Amino acid sequence: MSTISIIPEPQSIEIGDGHFIISAATVIVATDEAKPVAEFLTDLLRPATGFDLHVAEKGENAITLTLLEGDESEGYTLAISETSIRIEATTPAGLFYGVQTLRQLLPITIESDDTISDVEWSVPIATITDAPRFAWRGLHLDVARHYFDVTFIKKFIDLMALYKLNVFHWHLTEDQGWRIEIKKYPKLTEIGSKRSESPLMENRHQGDGKPYDGGYYTHDEVREVVAYAAARSITVVPEIEMPGHAVAALTSYPELGCVGEGYVVRTTWGIAKDVFCAGKDSVFTFLENVLTEVLDLFPSEFIHIGGDECPKDRWQVCPDCQARIKAEGLADEHELQSYFIRRMERWLNERGRRLIGWDEILEGGLAPNATVMSWRGSQGGIDAANAGHDVVMSPTTNCYFDYYQAEDKDAEPPAIGRYLPLERVYQFQPIPEDIDPAKAHHVLGGQGNIWTEYIPTSDHLEYMTYPRAIALAEIVWSYPEKRDFSAFKSRLNQHNERLNLLEVNYRPMKDDD
Ligand code: ACM
Ligand code: ZN
Repeated sequence: MSTISIIPEPQSIEIGDGHFIISAATVIVATDEAKPVAEFLTDLLRPATGFDLHVAEKGENAITLTLLEGDESEGYTLAISETSIRIEATTPAGLFYGVQTLRQLLPITIESDDTISDVEWSVPIATITDAPRFAWRGLHLDVARHYFDVTFIKKFIDLMALYKLNVFHWHLTEDQGWRIEIKKYPKLTEIGSKRSESPLMENRHQGDGKPYDGGYYTHDEVREVVAYAAARSITVVPEIEMPGHAVAALTSYPELGCVGEGYVVRTTWGIAKDVFCAGKDSVFTFLENVLTEVLDLFPSEFIHIGGDECPKDRWQVCPDCQARIKAEGLADEHELQSYFIRRMERWLNERGRRLIGWDEILEGGLAPNATVMSWRGSQGGIDAANAGHDVVMSPTTNCYFDYYQAEDKDAEPPAIGRYLPLERVYQFQPIPEDIDPAKAHHVLGGQGNIWTEYIPTSDHLEYMTYPRAIALAEIVWSYPEKRDFSAFKSRLNQHNERLNLLEVNYRPMKDDD
């Protein structure tokens, strides 16, 4: 029997002697809302086992998925005996996580696409009780600097589900590309999804001379991704960047900028001085129209509006922005940014949604109900939580998976300058000590961010994401008392073969990791 290696580490595991054997005669029992999870389990088991198992209302020698009455929780219990497997939870999400744990107890070859006839599909007798520490267990993906197709996005979501991550933060708009179809504004994708070239990987000061014909997601594709994620207990949080990181939109509709002309979808990385004009009402009308389509596509309670890295240069000299500052009695351009975010928050709140933004939305005063995603370290999140706002912690120090994975940069593919090894991800503390314990409940969770300036291909993206995202998954699911980096590494090593079968181009651990 192989060693048990579940990631993230469950709250409690008791292993007994003996096994349950899944065979062609095994029945999967589920009713009502448990049924889709049961179907997911049959789909998971079918390729490698070759068993076309059926979901029934009752049966012997069964895997039974039961929804219990009670407070809604993502927790589950998984009880395996020689004659039955029982998964119980109060929500379909809890059942789904029970299924993911069961999957990790099966022989690793369960991940194979080909039927393997000489394997005994045995699961050790065990009782597992489990629940996550945090409700927000996120991964962010920038599809604007480089585009990744729907097939790949689904694979990315599948891997999140395997490790019980539950928020896919989809960064859809940028200076270098607009990647979501907006039917009212077709030029956003006709013009804004393309750029004339990109910086060279080896030397970002030089262009590669190759037009990047981007790509974008149609409404149908977005719906497909959102439904695919929902079937895996994952919420897709869209990000539409404002007021900064907007040059692709300004190039498509120049009247949305302070200057009104001369914009070009950016061909270099970094921070652009051109941003949405905060003085013109037509800009708010445009953004509300864009978000109207976004709300129709994404059921997520949270809508991310960016808010980071918005230089104030244009606003300082724009007559419309200055008139707005005067009319609203604002002190300066920071308060103008705050006005911008508050106005968008009011609009979102009126439609039953919540605004989340990067920690720069604290500058000039935080919108009354805003949730802060803390990235420039933890201070923004600490301040916001102590002031009674919800926060998601995503500091560069532990959560930026576009950073190098080794100190010897020459041994790694090109990345953004800094160094973030696996161990530092594992040391991440989503609730920093400076948060008042009475306010700690405002920390919704943590998130890993993958910016793709230096990540042009899906293979490279997987190399940067795994195993760091797997370490993050354990941090946001399990409790600090469970932390043990060397034990984690030995469990992770046993996942290599699983990841190989899933054709994931993860970075193999090195001796000094
Ligand atoms: C960010 O990394 N600019 C949020
Ligand atoms: Zn302006």
